[in-house]
Amino acid sequence: MKPKFYTFSVFELIALLLLPLVQSVPAGTTSAPLPSPQQSATRVALRLHGSNTIGKELALAVCEDFLKSEGATSVQRKPREKEDETDIEAIFPNESAGPLTFEVQAHGTKTAFEDLAAGKCEIGMASRQITPEEARQCASAGLGDMFSPACENVLGLDGIAVFVNRSNPINALTKEQIADIFSGGITDWSQVSAHSGAINLHAPDEKSGTFDVFKSLVLGTKVLSPQALRYENSAKLSDEVATDPNGIGFAGMAFVRGSKPLAISQASTRPLLPTPFTVATWDYPLSRRLFLYMPAHPQNKWSRKFVEFALSSLGGGSKLTPAGFFARRSVESARSKLEVFSWWTSGGEATALDAIFNIYQKQYPGTGILNATVAGGGGSAARPVLQARLAAGNPPDTWQSHPGWELFDQYVEPNYCEPITELYQSEGWYKVLPKALVNLITKDGKTYAVLAGVHRGNVLWYNTKLLAKNGIKVGNKMSFGEFFAACDKLKAAGTPALGVGDSGIWASAHLFENTLLGVIGPQGWTDLFSGKMKWDDPNVKQAMQYFAKMQDYVNPDHALLTWDQAVKALMDGKVGFTLMGDWADGEFIKAHMKEKEDFGWVSSPGTDGSFMIVADGFTLAKGAPHKEATIAWLKSVGSKEAQEAFNPLKGSIPVRTDVDKSKFDGYHQWSMNEFARDKLLPSCVHGEAAPAGFQTALNNAIISFTVDKNIENFANALVQASDNTGQETIGRLDFIGQKIKIQKTEIPPGAPPEFVKEISGAGKLSLDFHFRRGDTQLDRKSLADLDSLVELLANPTFQQRRLLVLGFSDNAGNARRNRALSKNRAKAVAEQLQMRGITPSLVDGYGKALPIAPNNNEDGREKNRRVEVWLR
Ligand code: GAL
Repeated sequence: MKPKFYTFSVFELIALLLLPLVQSVPAGTTSAPLPSPQQSATRVALRLHGSNTIGKELALAVCEDFLKSEGATSVQRKPREKEDETDIEAIFPNESAGPLTFEVQAHGTKTAFEDLAAGKCEIGMASRQITPEEARQCASAGLGDMFSPACENVLGLDGIAVFVNRSNPINALTKEQIADIFSGGITDWSQVSAHSGAINLHAPDEKSGTFDVFKSLVLGTKVLSPQALRYENSAKLSDEVATDPNGIGFAGMAFVRGSKPLAISQASTRPLLPTPFTVATWDYPLSRRLFLYMPAHPQNKWSRKFVEFALSSLGGGSKLTPAGFFARRSVESARSKLEVFSWWTSGGEATALDAIFNIYQKQYPGTGILNATVAGGGGSAARPVLQARLAAGNPPDTWQSHPGWELFDQYVEPNYCEPITELYQSEGWYKVLPKALVNLITKDGKTYAVLAGVHRGNVLWYNTKLLAKNGIKVGNKMSFGEFFAACDKLKAAGTPALGVGDSGIWASAHLFENTLLGVIGPQGWTDLFSGKMKWDDPNVKQAMQYFAKMQDYVNPDHALLTWDQAVKALMDGKVGFTLMGDWADGEFIKAHMKEKEDFGWVSSPGTDGSFMIVADGFTLAKGAPHKEATIAWLKSVGSKEAQEAFNPLKGSIPVRTDVDKSKFDGYHQWSMNEFARDKLLPSCVHGEAAPAGFQTALNNAIISFTVDKNIENFANALVQASDNTGQETIGRLDFIGQKIKIQKTEIPPGAPPEFVKEISGAGKLSLDFHFRRGDTQLDRKSLADLDSLVELLANPTFQQRRLLVLGFSDNAGNARRNRALSKNRAKAVAEQLQMRGITPSLVDGYGKALPIAPNNNEDGREKNRRVEVWLR
């Protein structure tokens, strides 16, 4: 691990805090950031009418590219007053006649054929095939045989996604259930899932080709319920579902946006999610083709040229390459609003985010916001989604990022975001932000994010009444001795002392990180992350010991809870303490809990005088679909007004030094004072102090440690992660900073012959799936690894290779049973892969053969209960 560290002196900070204050730009002085709709007065050269799936965004992008490829010197998109109608205006150098336009109207597939027959357009965009009746009408209008290759062009493949609100726990439905839901036979979520509530239906309107395909593929003889809300615009439909907890809708897969797509099964097949992969193989039950239709003998000089260009640039026609098509489609995915991506979904987080939205909309009226959230504290679930989107060239306009390593290594270095140095200058932010904070987001003189606020990570929260009842007093600071004494008292009274919600493992890593800081202190922290101190240092091991001891006091349901549910347990008096960043304060505020009376806080044990910084910033995406709106958003986030509205609700302190401090409660006053006097340290768990690979290794080591409590293993795993040495590899792929390697493997002595036959010439991936004794259920880490694996296998380099999924057991029990068990474990992994569209070539089990660790202790046996994945 390359050492990199952010730390600042108190003097530097004080000097900065005394800098002259600058007023923020008054609200409303900047013009609306999106171009205003305008009617074009230029010559219409080509008209494309029909499908909203195609015409909403994709066709616009292809028109722009086409006109540029034809030599246009300027190409501009001009939305008309009427929704879903856009002119693409182009100027050519030698055209004396002035600019020309391509007209795109996206009112549904039906209109493609009506308008073609009526001579109102030259190209029909369709998300289903033309019907014989429509073809007959076109033929009688003199357009020729629309089913002929001259007229019918397959533009690419698409899947109809069925999606629900992200809060809905359901993940999969059968095609029959979907039909029953949309026809009104199933009306409450409780009939199909753990969720309950009357189902709200959202469906495309009657003109939509997507609706026609849905009718034929899903509804069959059933009729859409009259209760369904209908939409012409797929993006709008999806955005409604994203805000409707009981909603379900469907649209082309590029329109999933902020909703959650469901895996779909039919007959007895496995449920599959719509992915480029499952659609390309036609395994996804709602796969379909998209078409461009034109007359057999077009009069218009652009028609054929345009269609040929569209097919070649999207990989359609004879060289149909759906993956390329999808990549392109997601780049152009239909978005009409400023998309803000974050993981702020807990009660306090969402309320605080809303406060900035409100201010933004007040300052810049008329711009819609797409609140794209991926739930999961600390961003553990959001970051992989974001990375996949960035890699596919489909960025949100702006996203939440921690400063330090996360910002620079994951977003700046790969060129995913743009510097906003000029914005800092024009807004005068360099003068009102402590230099220490500016340093965290600035590299080579360029600044890359606007900070919304600064959290303190090292806070121990407690339930005042519960502690008082148990005779526990908390002073201004707390030692580990005092903390454990308090825990003992609560334990004796039958109450779990320490509330943890580590269904996302980061929450336990957070507990460990701040325990570590409490033992090694700020200098130790600096030394550790700059490589001076080793991860197996006795002091680090002491912290591991404390962390192990803490497990004795933790609530038994910790693995089922999220961080905010653990905070709720504290509010309800079910646990005494929780060690959590001060986003927890946002939850107390939201629940109207009273400071001191209901809850209290102190620096987490041993950390008085240190401030573990967890700052939140927003970026400007390179190629942001709405750049002006994004800059306006960033201006809003950095404005005094937003800082004063957001932070009091979020628990963080403002980054500007010119805010009105009277707007902040007691906790914030305390935190602001601490910030000014403490040593400021970057968090590792929240991406600032170390690269993502190390962060992941820490999480994995924590998972193992909570099971085996083995300090040596824990320390060694971290030493190894920080050295970042790996085995010799013959293949390597970076996935979100985590490397899965294909290892050169010797054939082990004593290997069963059928195993040798399978693996010769194959490489073993550097990840194993593990299981509990006698069990075939994948553990939590394995499920996370599975997603990384799918990413890897979806890479075209690996698609040609045979995938082998091989199970093993420990030596407990009889041979026949072990063989069956190991095979079932392999099957469990294969099933999960299949759900994600990947089918292994071989799934087998070899029982207790080939142990990778001694079977004479539980540690070793645990290692042997595994499934290996090989590529040939
Ligand atoms: C942190 C983030 C905070 C808070 C927390 C829990 O990483 O910086 O703003 O959201 O995760 O989700």
